[in-house]
Amino acid sequence: MASLTVRQLDERLKTLLRLRAARNGRSMEDEIRSILREAADAAGEDILERFEPAATPARAAAVPANTAMPRVLLIIGGGIAAYKSLDLIRRLKERGCAVRCVLTQAATQFVTPLAASALTGGRVYTELFNPEHEFDVGHIRLARETDLVVVAPATADLMAKMAQGHANDLATAVLLATNAKILLAPAMNPAMWANKATQRNLKQLKADGVALVGPNAGEMAERGERGVGRMAEPLEIAGAVERLMKIAAAPQPLKGKRILVTAGPTHEPIDPVRYIANRSSGKQGYAIAAAAAEAGADVVLISGPVNLPKPENVDFIDVESARDMLAAVEKALPADVAIFAAAVADWRVANAGEQKIKKQPGKATPQLALAENPDILSTIAHRRSDRPPLVIGFAAETENVIANAKAKLARKGCDWILANDVSPSTGIMGGDSNTIHLVTAAGVDDWPPQSKEQAAAMLISRIAATLTGDRN
Ligand SMILES: Cc1cc2nc3c(=O)[nH]c(=O)nc-3n(C[C@H](O)[C@H](O)[C@H](O)COP(=O)(O)O)c2cc1C
Repeated sequence: MASLTVRQLDERLKTLLRLRAARNGRSMEDEIRSILREAADAAGEDILERFEPAATPARAAAVPANTAMPRVLLIIGGGIAAYKSLDLIRRLKERGCAVRCVLTQAATQFVTPLAASALTGGRVYTELFNPEHEFDVGHIRLARETDLVVVAPATADLMAKMAQGHANDLATAVLLATNAKILLAPAMNPAMWANKATQRNLKQLKADGVALVGPNAGEMAERGERGVGRMAEPLEIAGAVERLMKIAAAPQPLKGKRILVTAGPTHEPIDPVRYIANRSSGKQGYAIAAAAAEAGADVVLISGPVNLPKPENVDFIDVESARDMLAAVEKALPADVAIFAAAVADWRVANAGEQKIKKQPGKATPQLALAENPDILSTIAHRRSDRPPLVIGFAAETENVIANAKAKLARKGCDWILANDVSPSTGIMGGDSNTIHLVTAAGVDDWPPQSKEQAAAMLISRIAATLTGDRN
């Protein structure tokens, strides 16, 4: 093999190399090694397969990446949702992450190492007792040479093993050996998720500092099953990865600010067992509360009935009706910012039954008389004392979105309106994405279609800029 000494390089290259090595705190020789490894990784494992015999030390040494890109180790567990993790690899790579993949033995029943390898562009690891990889304790290298470990899907079994500190296969050995932050995306049948053992393990893992995304509520792969247990969507997991990677260095522009957020629908009782509701999922409000907490704010989330996990690090108050929500909001004041993302029912049933209304054969159908609910946004925006300096409302419209939002801004006395078209064809109500128009006294900003997490991040950075006086 040809040898190259630094002296043979031209002066410009030497200077560049010296600067790069100094910036990364490495010797020039180590920096060259790291550049070659990056190039080998980028070229893909197939090149190594072609030019390096499988079990030689040279090939093994070429495997680790020591790149400037954020490094994610993705552990795929043995659940139906494993197929979504293939898309997650793509999403992480789109965000500039270098992705390595470990598949549990059970995961190989759901997706092939070949598919994961084609998507990561590198070798996929499946076994702990593999002489080719373990001649230099490869599982410890996998554990160390990463900035974040993502487990998706995190099976009930993996969660149990992690909570107990097992290390009897490659995935659990890596999880036990890593010093990097761990993010779990649990996925399992709702009964498995609700099981006391899983909930015990979850509590332990949270106490151990493990981060979570999902699980979400919805249809399960098993026919006719619904409930909490669906793995978070790849875009949601990628968003959580982005946020975690930035957490250490991220400034907290909302530190010391108190932010109140309402979310979800309200339920207006007809009688003790029936109610009037709407299709709000609460996803946008929950994403805003999570983004505000990540920006360092002291967040109070007042939520109507939804099927979503509570965001971390927020004070959570659950309510049912519009009147309960208004009372909780007034109690939570003062705040620096109030964001009213809840879809509050405009009317309640004036003559709600104290007892379950019975069908009475031969008698007329009961008539529901409606009474107007308090307007929470307008009530808070018009308060004389304790009005939050920035009051933000949502306008969910099905026609004339901007014109209606402008009229609402004036009528309600709030500072900003986030207008969105919730016609059924948009899929926004209950869906994962949103297209928002920010209406303020200064004009209208059209935001691009994006995930509700991205829209939340955009809103929070706009609020931070406004509170710190960068713009209005
Ligand atoms: C068809 C099928 C689907 C499964 N889906 C899940 C699942 O979504 N979540 C889960 O926790 N376990 C699921 N299991 C059970 C796991 O595959 C099993 O507990 C396995 O031991 C997990 O191994 P691992 O945690 O090492 O990946 C499923 C099993 C089968 C046969």
